[in-house]
Amino acid sequence: MKDRYGREIDYLRISVTDRCNLRCRYCMPRDIASIPMKDILTFEEIVMTARSAAELGISRIKITGGEPLVRRDVCHLISMLKKIPGIEQVTLTTNGILLKEYLDEILAAGTDSINVSLDTLDPVRYQKITGFDKLESVLSGLKLAVNRNIQVKINAVSADWNSSFGSPVSDDSSHIHEDIKALIGLAEIMPVDVRFIELMPIGYGKSFPGIPHDLLIREIKDIYGGMRRISRHGNGPAVYYTIPGYRGNIGFISAIHGRFCSGCNRIRLTSKGYLKSCLCYDTGVDIKGILRGDASGVLKHEELCRALEQCILSKPDSHSFTQTEKITENLSMSAIGG
Ligand code: GTP
Ligand code: 5AD
Ligand code: SF4
Repeated sequence: MKDRYGREIDYLRISVTDRCNLRCRYCMPRDIASIPMKDILTFEEIVMTARSAAELGISRIKITGGEPLVRRDVCHLISMLKKIPGIEQVTLTTNGILLKEYLDEILAAGTDSINVSLDTLDPVRYQKITGFDKLESVLSGLKLAVNRNIQVKINAVSADWNSSFGSPVSDDSSHIHEDIKALIGLAEIMPVDVRFIELMPIGYGKSFPGIPHDLLIREIKDIYGGMRRISRHGNGPAVYYTIPGYRGNIGFISAIHGRFCSGCNRIRLTSKGYLKSCLCYDTGVDIKGILRGDASGVLKHEELCRALEQCILSKPDSHSFTQTEKITENLSMSAIGG
């Protein structure tokens, strides 16, 4: 279905939990009250919503969190979503801690691709950023997944971790280049796309200066002379470049400088059952009442379709991340799912 600006909305991001097994400083730096389980949509409720969404033209679903793999049986949900007529792709975005443990189930469920969040390959900085000494778990899950031939992409938030945090994460100011080069190096040795994400002023992300991507791209191009933009597109706002001889591409999700909203294709469903029209604003439609109401199955489906339409039609033309006073979303990124 098209929104008011003629954009085809065919992608739904579903956050299955607000809980997470990491404490990334820009996202969930400390324990925050989590949503009581009774308020979290059940798998049946999520599947019912996805069926209605598929009828309106949603064909691709992203499973996110918090950390989706901490929700018990999430792979069962993926397999149910994959069976819905009209749903062509179900992909997963994870921090990778539990990837190794659940990889067989993820693959058996028919997951189409996996995005792994990984901001540095330095174990000390990884611990400073995420609160846990778990880099090895992520890397072993990542390698296993690549060896099983599922498409894997890496998401790295671009920030200057030194100036961003009160206590420096490293004494070495050259670490920005070190981190970026090391991450890009993964695309040399493995067929993985490495994507840098411009830090967005959502939740705790407001407290940190990110690295502007116009600057970052220029610097990376200086280092990798042969880097060329390619026309390939994924499901989302990333733009991709190739480096000669590299097995994976380098991507940039330039949330602030990229001005990609004119190509936006998505709506979001939070784990509490709120349909969000844009990452930047709190506007949307609460569908938990519909899902938990007394209406019959057919009526519920119709009500859900109306709610989804309402959400799609309320999509704004663009975010306003550069005018922070206009951002109305107060949820943390872990409660939205990115
Ligand atoms: P694929 O193309 O399927 O890999 O999906 P994706 O890049 O949309 O998904 P992913 O979950 O890996 O998200 C990567 C980053 O992009 C996260 O930081 C998201 O918050 C951000 N992102 C995803 N969609 C949007 C969007 O519509 N607007 C903005 N500003 N950021 C987004
Ligand atoms: N800005 C940009 N990306 C963020 N993520 C979490 N918080 C932010 C933020 N404020 C990223 C995670 C993960 C993806 C789903 O969103 O690192 O890769
Ligand atoms: Fe967890 Fe992802 Fe937030 Fe880190 S960014 S705390 S991994 S939800």
